Amino acid sequence: MQPHADRPSSPVRPIAALSVCLTDGSRVTIRQIEETDLALEQDFLRRLSPEFHAYRFLGLIRDPDETDVRDLIHTDPECEVSLAAIARHDGMDCQVGVARFRRNEDGDADCAVTIDPQWQRLGLGRLLMARLIEAARIRGVRRLFAIDAARCAGSHRLAERLGFRSCPEPDDPAVLTYELDIR
Ligand SMILES: CC(C)(COP(=O)(O)OP(=O)(O)OC[C@H]1O[C@@H](n2cnc3c(N)ncnc32)[C@H](O)[C@@H]1OP(=O)(O)O)[C@@H](O)C(=O)NCCC(=O)NCCS
Repeated sequence: MQPHADRPSSPVRPIAALSVCLTDGSRVTIRQIEETDLALEQDFLRRLSPEFHAYRFLGLIRDPDETDVRDLIHTDPECEVSLAAIARHDGMDCQVGVARFRRNEDGDADCAVTIDPQWQRLGLGRLLMARLIEAARIRGVRRLFAIDAARCAGSHRLAERLGFRSCPEPDDPAVLTYELDIR
């Protein structure tokens, strides 16, 4: 079988962990999600509202069960990257944000970012997405896109700061598509 035109032909390299400083001075580590992160991911999901679950699962609305969570932390290295932001709290790791993309056959990738409500407005969404965009570029993604409610001021501002263009959906004025060409 011929390799896909937009896929790197060499084996995919893991994304290195990166320590970042937020605007309140706290530090978190951005790293790839691992198969051993089940408990961290479950704790994270417990702190999110059902609306936020839809972002984390790229659209799933029902309550996630353990199989759904295992699917989240098991990523296909050929076409997916999931990055977690990990804080140390009382000597324990705590997942406080996550960003992911999944590439389709055209070389475009659906992406989403979700930050723990307690950790929002500290620059974490921007730092996580910047790292995700870098990973997407390395993995040969041509275009990142996300679909979100037009009323969501946080995602609108974040997308704008990252250079995404927003495109109204002709059939649904309540929805915006965000797009970023990265090649
Ligand atoms: C959208 C979201 C990811 C932003 O994360 P965050 O860590 O709070 O974002 P940052 O702190 O990096 O802020 C980025 C910019 O957005 C602005 N912003 C963040 N939340 C905002 C809000 N609720 N209202 C207005 N502006 C907001 C920040 O002020 C900042 O702008 P600035 O650089 O001009 O100061 C977070 O609110 C979230 O998880 N929302 C639910 C899921 C979601 O909407 N995902 C996006 C769709 S895929």
